[in-house]
Parts: sequence; structure tokens; C-alpha cells
Amino acid sequence: MQGGSPNPNTSILDVKNLTVRIRTPRGPVFPVRQFSMTLAKGDLLGIVGESGSGKTLAGLSLLGLLPEGSEILEGSIRFDGKELVGAPEDTWNRIRGARISMVFQEPQSALNPILRIGSMFEEIYDSHRPDTDGPFRQQAIRDLLLSVGLDRPDAIVRSYPHQLSGGMRQRVLIAMAIALSPDIVIADEPTTALDLTMSHQILDLLLERNRKDGMSLILISHDLGIIRRSARQILVLYAGRIVESVSGERFFKSGPSHPYAQALLLSRPGANRKTKEDGPLEAIRGQVPPLWDLPPGCAFAPRCPLADARCQRESPPWIPTGNDQGALCFYPSIKEDVA
Ligand SMILES: Nc1ncnc2c1ncn2[C@@H]1O[C@H](COP(=O)(O)OP(=O)(O)OP(=O)(O)O)[C@@H](O)[C@H]1O
Ligand SMILES: [Mg+2]
Repeated sequence: MQGGSPNPNTSILDVKNLTVRIRTPRGPVFPVRQFSMTLAKGDLLGIVGESGSGKTLAGLSLLGLLPEGSEILEGSIRFDGKELVGAPEDTWNRIRGARISMVFQEPQSALNPILRIGSMFEEIYDSHRPDTDGPFRQQAIRDLLLSVGLDRPDAIVRSYPHQLSGGMRQRVLIAMAIALSPDIVIADEPTTALDLTMSHQILDLLLERNRKDGMSLILISHDLGIIRRSARQILVLYAGRIVESVSGERFFKSGPSHPYAQALLLSRPGANRKTKEDGPLEAIRGQVPPLWDLPPGCAFAPRCPLADARCQRESPPWIPTGNDQGALCFYPSIKEDVA
């Protein structure tokens, strides 16, 4: 099994072989293929991969929010014991925002520009907790804004999104995502537009909820520095497939097993630099193949230093590399964990 939690008895989300199809003028493409993962209560899973690898669409599919023209073709999403694939829209509506929520990748488009922040919170309560009375709501919204470090909550609720800085908007988005104490938050590049100090503060907010309240967190990020600080388990995506599922500890200590995951680790800023000045980044040679023109064998083969004729021809197998870990590769390097 790909992904995985230390204690499956407490698993809250089980995704199996999820495949997303998009209809395009060139024919159907599959930006997420056979995506499987397990998330325990209070767990922290990181999803990494180059731009276009399917991270956002994988996250959106867990919320039933795939964009127009795309759909779940097959697979299963079991949340709290209930199957969500094929579930009626009102089941999704009850879960979305209340039990699974998302911090969207683009804060600009996630906040309605013509609504004051306060009205957006009101909408959340109207949809999921219509019975909570006005004063209780007002206090809850104030407390939420304070808890994400916005210390003038009354001014914030009266503001429109454009009146706030990027960091403040991101805090508001996080406050909205955690407003109803969901079981799972999917944070899609929550720190991309922020400077280093701000991105650490934003991550701390999410990690605090994860540690204190047992909120499970799926952290999508191209920034391995962010992932390093937090993830118990890491899923590495390439061209829509999980090519490796590996513990965070192993990933950063002894290193991952899949050649792509290894290259990703080496290409991060600061990795393996010999001089203080840092040489140019060791970028991964070549490009991700387009979804409509994937090679017949391993999608990474054209860029892989280890690839041979078999890799070019045949789909690689999923090879277990340890407890709840594995790599989609004919030649994974299997390393002992470093204590
Ligand atoms: N509506 C769409 N129509 C066609 N292709 C799409 C659509 N939405 C996404 N895609 C394609 O699906 C693939 C996965 O996109 P996705 O946004 O999930 O990538 P990502 O890993 O989140 O990338 P990034 O790091 O840039 O956010 C990409 O190749 C993208 O071009
Ligand atoms: Mg994305």
C-alpha cells in the first residue's frame, strides 16, 4: 500500500487507486493516477513534486472540488468510514469546509473580492452552523482571527481582501479553513507568496493545530524546507503518479529510494552546496512529459540516470522499501534508516 499511517486503526482517510480524468481537445488525460494514501487522526502528510505533477488536483479531488471538465474516473475515498466517491452532493457539502477543508493555493481567488472578511465567515456559519447565534459567532470569529495572529480582529472583519497584505490574507484563509475545527486540513502551498519569516509563522499556526487539536494535515508544497519541518510521511508525485511514499525522517536523513525523489532532494536550494556562495542549482535535467504524451514505460525514464530499455518499455512495479514505504521503480535504492 502506498502512503500509510503508523496506526491504521485510527485512520480517518483512506484513498485507494484514485484516478482523475480531464477531457481535453486532444482527448482524455489523467493528471492523477492510482493515487493511494492513508491519513491517521492527527497525522501530517507532505505531498511534493514539480509544478504540474498533480498535487493540487489530488487535493481538490479529496474535497469533491475538481474543476469543470475533470472528474474522478475510478478509485475510492473513504472518510471516517464513509465512501465519498459517487456520494450525493449534499454529503460532500456537509463534509467540505466542516470536516475536511482546504487552504487554497491562490489566496487571491479564494477570497471573494467584493465581500468583507466578516461576511465570508458568516457564510461559513450559515452553511454549516446556521443555529449559532450572532453574539456567539462574532466572538468565535474574533477568537479565530486572534488565534492566527491578527490582533485587530474588529478591523479585519470590516475589511475587504484587497485592504490586507498577502500575509494577512493567508492568515484569514487559514482562519477560515480551521473555523469549524475540521478533522483534516489540506494546505496547498500555504506559504508560497510569503517571505521566510512569514512562511515560518504561517506554518507554525498549522502545526500548532495539528499538535494541540489533533487536526490531520496534508501539506502540499514545492518547498522541501517547509516539508522538512513537519511531515511524518512524504508522497512524491511525478506526472500524476506517487513515485515514492517515504517517512519524512528517512527522506531527509538516509535519503529517498526513487531516482526522481533523490534528484528533487538534490535540487533544493542549499542542498549539497560546496561553497558558501552556492553554485547554480542542480536542476533535474529535461522536462516533465506532457500528460497527453507520456512515455510507454516509466514516465521518469527519459530523465533518469538509471533508466534502461526495460524502464523505457514497461511500467515500473511498486517495490516496498520499508514499513508503509515504497517506490514505483525497477531499481529503487533501498537504504537502512539512519537512527
Ligand atoms: N482544467 C484543466 N484542463 C486541462 N489540464 C489541467 C486542468 N487543470 C490542471 N490541468 C493539468 O493537470 C496537471 C496537474 O495540475 P496541478 O494543478 O494539480 O499541478 P500541481 O502539482 O499542483 O502544480 P503546481 O506546483 O504548479 O501548483 C497539470 O499538467 C495541469 O496542466
Ligand atoms: Mg498546485
